Amino acid sequence: MSIRYYEEEQRFVLETRNSVYQMKIDRTGCLRHLYYGRSVGSADMNYLYRTTDRGFSGNPYEFQDDRGCSFDVMPQEYSTYGVGDYRAAALRCTAENGSRSTDLRYESHNYKEGKYILEGLPYVRENSGTVDTLTIKLKDPVTNVAAWLEYGVFEEKDVITRTARICNESQDAVMIEKAASVCLDFPYGVSEMISFSGRHCMERQPFRQKLGQNCVSVGSKRGMSSHHNNPFVILCNDETTEDTGDAYGVMLMYSGSHKEEVEKDQAGNVRVVAGIQEEGFCWKLEPGEAFQTPETILTYSGSGLNGLSSNYHRIIRENVIDQKFRGKRSPVLLNSWEASYFDFDEKSIYDLAVQARELGTEMLVLDDGWFGARNDDHAGLGDWYVNENKLKGGLAQLSEKIHDLGLQFGLWVEPEMVNENSDLYRTHPDWALKDPGRNPNVARNQLVLDMSREDVREYLFSCIDRLLREIRIDYMKWDFNRSVANAYSAQLPPEREGEVLHRFVLGTYSLLEKIRCAYPDLLIEGCAGGGGRFDAGMLFYTPQIWCSDNTDAVSRLRIQEGTSYGYPVCTMGSHVSASPNHQTRRNTPISTRGIVASSGALGYELDPSTLSPEEKDEIRKQIAQYQEDYSLVHEGTYYRLHEKASGTSTVCWQFVSADRNEALLNLAAESVAPNTPFPHVRMKGLKENAVYTIRETGQQISGAALMYGGYSFDILAGDYPCVQLHLAAAAD
Ligand code: DGJ
Repeated sequence: MSIRYYEEEQRFVLETRNSVYQMKIDRTGCLRHLYYGRSVGSADMNYLYRTTDRGFSGNPYEFQDDRGCSFDVMPQEYSTYGVGDYRAAALRCTAENGSRSTDLRYESHNYKEGKYILEGLPYVRENSGTVDTLTIKLKDPVTNVAAWLEYGVFEEKDVITRTARICNESQDAVMIEKAASVCLDFPYGVSEMISFSGRHCMERQPFRQKLGQNCVSVGSKRGMSSHHNNPFVILCNDETTEDTGDAYGVMLMYSGSHKEEVEKDQAGNVRVVAGIQEEGFCWKLEPGEAFQTPETILTYSGSGLNGLSSNYHRIIRENVIDQKFRGKRSPVLLNSWEASYFDFDEKSIYDLAVQARELGTEMLVLDDGWFGARNDDHAGLGDWYVNENKLKGGLAQLSEKIHDLGLQFGLWVEPEMVNENSDLYRTHPDWALKDPGRNPNVARNQLVLDMSREDVREYLFSCIDRLLREIRIDYMKWDFNRSVANAYSAQLPPEREGEVLHRFVLGTYSLLEKIRCAYPDLLIEGCAGGGGRFDAGMLFYTPQIWCSDNTDAVSRLRIQEGTSYGYPVCTMGSHVSASPNHQTRRNTPISTRGIVASSGALGYELDPSTLSPEEKDEIRKQIAQYQEDYSLVHEGTYYRLHEKASGTSTVCWQFVSADRNEALLNLAAESVAPNTPFPHVRMKGLKENAVYTIRETGQQISGAALMYGGYSFDILAGDYPCVQLHLAAAAD
C-alpha cells in the first residue's frame, strides 16, 4: 500500500517509487501540507516548519496565543477564502446569508486499493500497476460546506492525481465562485516556473520565469484550454536542467477555461492553485448537491525536466489514452485540407485517394466542406448531412470505393459549432450561445452551440451516429474553430448562467463518451484550429490531437518540442505538407518534413499531383521507415537534446527503446552559417557498455563514449537540413 497514516502524529504519507507526499492534521484540525519531493523514507517532515510572528498575518482564533501560526503563511492542502489566508484560495463560496468565508477542518479519511473514478469528467485510468486512493473529508462547521479531497497514488509511475469534490451539507443553497482542483504549497526549493504559452499556429512554447514575491497567473477564458496557455505548468528552481534537479508538474485534465496561479509569499513559500477559470464562473449548489472539480496529474522528478516529461509520457500512454489505441499505430493518412480546401467533388476526392494509395498512405481523410451548403466557411456548420451537389452519389458510395482501393476512410466534423447560414440555426436559433438582446461575437462566421443542453447533444449524437451507421468511417477529425464568447444559455435560469462554460465542457465530454461507447473502434483525432484543445482531458477521448494548424516543418520543431514537455509523441498529429508551406511560405526539403512529421502520428496533407517522381519515392521510403521505427519512436523514451557547439540554431531529439538496444537521433537546423564548429551533442539513455553501430555512417561507438564524449556531426549546410541517425547495439 502506497498510503500510510500515522495515527499519533495525524500524518499522511503517500509514497511513489521516487517521491513522497506528506500532510498533517494540526491540533485545530487544519490539514497542512508538509512535503512533496524526493523520497525521504518515513521521516516526519514537520520539523521543517518554523513559525515566527509575521506582521499583518492574523491567527486562527484557536491560535491567539501563538502569533506565529497564521493561515497566511501556513502550508495548506486546500486553501480557502476569507479567514486570513491572503494568498491564492482554492475554494471561495458565498453562503445563503451572504457570508463569503470558508474554513475547512478535518473530519474523516479513508484509503483503499484501486483508483477512484470521476463521473462525467476525464480521469487517469487505473489500468496496470499499483494504484491506491486516499480520501480526506474537510468541512466548514459553520457553513456546512465540505470538501472531499481525493488522491490517486500511482506508485510505480511517480504520479499522484488530485481532485476535490465540494458538497453542500447545509439546508440552504451555496454559490461556489471558485473551486480549484489542487492547491500545492512548497515552502522550499521552488523558485522558477515554466508555462506553455503561444498562439494559433505557434502553440505551447515553454516560458521559464523566476518567481518574485507576487502571483503569476496563466490560463484561458476562451471556453477551451487554448492555443494561448496550456493547462500545464512546471515548478522548478534555478539549478534544474533537462537532466538534473527537482521538477514538479501540475497538469489539469480539463479542456475548458482554466487558471494556474503561482504565488510566492512574504516568507518565500510558493503556492500553486490550478483549476477551472474563476472569472465568469459561479455554480449554485443546492442542499445535498456536490460539485466535482476536474482531475490534476502531479508528478515529481529528481532528474530534471526530461525525467518529468518521461513520467507524463508514460502515464498518458498507459493510463489516460483509451487502451484500445495504446501502442496501436494509427494509419498513415492523407488529409484533403491543404490539398484542396473547400474545392473538391467526388471525382477529385477519389483521384486523391488513388494517389494517396500510390504514395503508400493508408487512409484518405475528407476534411471540411463535405456537408450542408459548405462551399466556404460562411455556411453549413450544424447540417451534418452530405452535400450531394458536391459529392454526387453520396459519401457511403465514395467511402466504399476508397475502401476498395485498400484504403481506410476518415471524415472531418465540427459538432460544437453552427453557422447562422444553416438549416440547424434557422430551425433552432436558441441552440447557440448568445446573450439576450445582443448580437453575438462571431468568429470564422460561426457561433458556438449550447453543449449544456441535452437536446443539442442528442441532435449531434443522432447526426454522428447516422453518419457512422450509413458510411464506412474508420476515423473522425473533431474540430473546434473558435474561442467561446457570449456564454449565455437560453435554457438555464439567471442564477445558473455562471455555470454555462463548465456545463459546455461537460456536455462535450458526455457526447464524446457516448460516441466512444457506441463506436469503441473509432479513432477520433481531436483538433481545435490545430492545437487549441491539446490537453489531457481531450486525450481521454481522442488518443491523438492535431498538434497545430502550422504544418511548416521548421515551426513544428519548436511546437512539437514544446508539446513534448507534457505529452508523448504518439498524441501529436503531424503531417508532411507542401513546399512552400501554406502558413509560412517557407521552402523546406522533403526529407526534413518527413523526419519532423515522423516524430508524431504521421500523415500527409498536400496535393500529390504537384510532387516530382523523386519526391513520391522519398515519401514511400518515409512511410516504410516510419512503420519500421514505430515502436522505437512511439513507445520508446523521448529525450530533448541541446546542440550548442555549432553556434547556429538547431533542435535535437532522441528516442531510446525500452531495452536500450536501439536509438534514433534527429538533428534539425533552423539556420546554418559557414565554417561553424562541428555540431555536437551528448546522447542520452544508452547502455554504457554496449557498442552501437550507427546505420547511416557505419561507425561503431560505445554507449559511454556517445553519452559522455558525445557525437560530432558534419557541419550543417543548405536549407533547413535535418540529420537522422539510427543506432543499434549488438545483442547482449
Ligand atoms: C482547422 C483545422 O485545424 C484544419 O486542419 C482544418 O481541418 C480546418 N480547420 C478546416 O476548417
